[in-house]
Amino acid sequence: MRSFILFLLCLLPLNGRTQNQDNQNTLFPQLINPQGMSGGVTGGPLLPGFGDGSGTGELFFGGGMSGGIGGGFSPVATNQSEGLNLSGSSSLNTNCKPNNDFACGECETKLQDDFNSLIADITGNPSNGNHWSEDFKGNATIKPGVTLEDTLAKIKKMMKDQNPDGDNGLNYIVIGESESLQPSAVRDGKMYPRIALKSPSSELWVTFSTDPENEAYSTLEIMRWNGKAAKFEFMELDFAPNKRHMDGTGEKCLSCHKQPDPRPNWDTYRAWSGVVPSRDDMLEMHTENGEFVEGADAKMGTDGRAYLSFLEQVVDAKENKPNDRLALLDVPIDEKVQFAGREPKVSSLTPREQLEAIKKQTEETGFYRIPHYPYKEELRQQNFDGKTAEYTGPSQAAFDQMSGQNFCRISQRMKEHPDYDKFKYFLAGVAEGCNGASRNIADPDYPWIPDSYKTRILNHYKQNPRVSLRNLALAGKNVDVENFQSLETKLVEDTEENHKLANVFKVNRHERFLQQYLGDVEKQNRELVEKEARNFSSSIEAPMQYGFHAIDDFGGVNGVPEDAARPISSLRAVLNPLGIDVTQWSMMRGDDPDYNSLAFSDQFSLLYQQAAVREVLAEIRSKPSYNGDMCGTLRDLSYTSLADPIYPEDVEVLANEYDIESWCRDRIEAESFGESLSFSDNMKDIFEIGRRTIEEDAKDLTKRCASCHGQNGFFPFPGLDKMTPSRDWSDEAWSEFNSFLRAETSRRNDPASLKFIEKLEIASMPPSGWGVGNTPDEIRQEDRRRRMLLNDYVKLTAATTDSDDAIKSYCRGILNTTGSSIGGDLEDESQGLGEGATQQ
Ligand code: HEC
Ligand code: HEC
Repeated sequence: MRSFILFLLCLLPLNGRTQNQDNQNTLFPQLINPQGMSGGVTGGPLLPGFGDGSGTGELFFGGGMSGGIGGGFSPVATNQSEGLNLSGSSSLNTNCKPNNDFACGECETKLQDDFNSLIADITGNPSNGNHWSEDFKGNATIKPGVTLEDTLAKIKKMMKDQNPDGDNGLNYIVIGESESLQPSAVRDGKMYPRIALKSPSSELWVTFSTDPENEAYSTLEIMRWNGKAAKFEFMELDFAPNKRHMDGTGEKCLSCHKQPDPRPNWDTYRAWSGVVPSRDDMLEMHTENGEFVEGADAKMGTDGRAYLSFLEQVVDAKENKPNDRLALLDVPIDEKVQFAGREPKVSSLTPREQLEAIKKQTEETGFYRIPHYPYKEELRQQNFDGKTAEYTGPSQAAFDQMSGQNFCRISQRMKEHPDYDKFKYFLAGVAEGCNGASRNIADPDYPWIPDSYKTRILNHYKQNPRVSLRNLALAGKNVDVENFQSLETKLVEDTEENHKLANVFKVNRHERFLQQYLGDVEKQNRELVEKEARNFSSSIEAPMQYGFHAIDDFGGVNGVPEDAARPISSLRAVLNPLGIDVTQWSMMRGDDPDYNSLAFSDQFSLLYQQAAVREVLAEIRSKPSYNGDMCGTLRDLSYTSLADPIYPEDVEVLANEYDIESWCRDRIEAESFGESLSFSDNMKDIFEIGRRTIEEDAKDLTKRCASCHGQNGFFPFPGLDKMTPSRDWSDEAWSEFNSFLRAETSRRNDPASLKFIEKLEIASMPPSGWGVGNTPDEIRQEDRRRRMLLNDYVKLTAATTDSDDAIKSYCRGILNTTGSSIGGDLEDESQGLGEGATQQ
């Protein structure tokens, strides 16, 4: 059992519990900067603070903007959040939240209920649908006779019926280059994209393959937003004759949608690579130097051609192959705006005529926006933030809506974190744009972080900088961290390198798609293919279209510049040592499994509108003593609450298993990736302070063990064998006992400390406790306190040996017993430890 778990541990992708999720991956191609991306820190544009407007006039926000993309970007005027709603616009906090049992809003419960009814219908189990039923989280068999096509048709109808605000239109996204389990293809002059059906509020997604030759042609993949728990839930239906199952566990999905808390995979705003059309849902005529090419040389832009060629396939299916699943798709006409007032109505035309109308519209006006049903105005009532372009498209609505969900998820996970009370003031300080929190965290004039915690952060990052500053390392930059100041600088640089990669992934992915399309559908010659695919993906620019675009064009499929490198880096510094992994937040993926993105385009500020922040601000404002200085108040509270765990007198927290275990885990994980680690570092100094602080108490308490494990006991331990319960420890005996705990004297592969920890955690030693207290309850509590103190002492002692071998075996052992619950919360872990002991 043990070695099995350890084996698993080595295979496990590192996850949210430890921040050192990266490994020394050298598969990464040397980075090529996307065109025009300078990546320099430009000192930061000054944006109004994002919080709720109650900040203290410290209105700076961000500072890590990479300059030089596209040019002409005026961060104040053209931010996507134009018309920025300073009163907090994350609608999932306010809209569709039936009561406080819900962590976040959820606008489409009715649709989810219907969807579950459909699942119940096709599986016969259970008999009824309810979004909150647990019955859909397991496995079931699909009834004989039910086909994927029938099911899809029902889903389509359901989505349309439940979209009255969007004139019952169907939102779907064409994924020309998919990196999922439903691969796309281009073959024999045709596109075989993956199709994603999207509900109006992006709370229900159903995707399918259009490639009959692919195995995944038999599957439907489903992602659903659970607003009550703030979670994304995944499900697969497989109609293949030998499978015919519903898998509601979502386990298959974790590797790409990340674990332990999966989320969507969706690129950064304003272009979605692999999606066709990629650039903000726009069909565009060909441009040169940012202007449409006029006259005889005018032609449809690359993505426009690809999209229309696919619509051609759809129309062909509608006309000739009604059983082909492509025939299910509608031609995305825009009766509301772009075709408004036409006679006859475009909706009354045949699909082919509709396709022609779209083509003509693009040619005449230079562009056509694939509409989202409904447009922004009607969406405002639902899950949408009322920002961005008036006439938004489906990919963009998807981004905004899922960003809202995703940040509410992140907020909720933080609120659930056992250390929330320690870091929440810092978090709110970042959100409020306060000096020293969202930037310059090393600035001694704005002391948000006590020295003790700075040391902890520093040690955390120093332990394995090539891992924790992986992006810098990959870029071939120096990762040596000397002091807190230099750590701050490096973290910002690391975040910026990470940001650059997002665009590299995006450009490459779309380029791959276009190469296939141009080569296989258009049969162009190779040289032209490569040139056009590259040009379109990396640099093509088109004129801004008022009402359709909310922000400048940054060329190709590049994202809007990241505007929050500094706040993100501040949060990485403070949260990662607590096991909150900021690199698990972004929805951006990239095809390197070790790339954990920090990219949010210009939407990181959505975090600031979430409950994890707003509740802190409310708490402070409600204090009678509040003097109106929000940043100052937050700063003081942050300083003291972050200090707590490290103050030597607060040993319980200092020695809590998480600290030592995460410290161990970082080492073992790094080691399993081939990193050679010295097991001695500064963290030991902190453990040593803790050990000394409780040493006297521990000495006293272990006397109690001497009756059975001491001089006249039946089971003597080294050192303790010189003791009786009434004798005082001699220095020699005590040090011998400590050496024994540290496995310095006993067999290394079986450290005594682990046995002690097991016994103390399952409360089996001393068998009848100490018996101090007046009531049984008091006695129990006091016994517990003493056992935990001893337990802490044993852990700290084991971790403070000078023998690397001894620490290694201790770390391996402690992870063996707890390894199975990696990713679980603290409580699970201590239970794991207890079970490990009883199974021995
Ligand atoms: C091999 C990686 C991978 C696995 C495994 C995977 N997905 Fe995805 N998924 C993606 C990627 C990448 C996207 C983004 C669009 C694309 O490339 O097709 C995506 C997108 C989606 C979407 C559209 C919404 C979104 O998140 O963008 C749904 C729904 C979805 N996946 C469901 C599932 C389900 C259900 C499973 C498990 C049965 C699963 N996925 C497993 C990679 C994966
Ligand atoms: C009343 C007698 C008694 C007292 C007092 C006692 N123990 Fe034990 N201890 C035992 C017995 C009996 C065993 C062997 C059975 C077992 O493993 O549960 C044992 C086993 C152990 C073991 C496992 C040793 C091994 O190598 O398997 C540890 C560790 C331990 N005790 C620690 C302690 C500590 C620490 C204390 C004091 C806080 C303590 N014990 C007090 C009776 C006692």
